[in-house]
Amino acid sequence: MASTSLQLTQLAAGKPQKITVGANEVCVVRVADEVFAVADICTHSDASLAEGEVNGEKIECWLHGAEFDLRTGAALTPPATEALETFEVSRDGDTVTISER
Ligand code: FES
Repeated sequence: MASTSLQLTQLAAGKPQKITVGANEVCVVRVADEVFAVADICTHSDASLAEGEVNGEKIECWLHGAEFDLRTGAALTPPATEALETFEVSRDGDTVTISER
């Protein structure tokens, strides 16, 4: 199973970051002291969610405004209807590891 590690200090709260986990492009977001990881490409069309806007535990796609739940990947508002894939996040001190499920 592919995984990628990074330091918590590399993640500014509320500022999404795109990383690669194996063959996947993953959008990683720190919200307060929690870290979420979802597929980077919006399920509506070909837009990078790492360029979107974070609002609490939601991320909004910059292209047509669909919102997704960062915790579950669920599509919350149209035009997206399909959930994002989510990735497992584990923490060991300041080291955050994102893995394929
Ligand atoms: S590409 Fe994300 S809402 Fe359309």
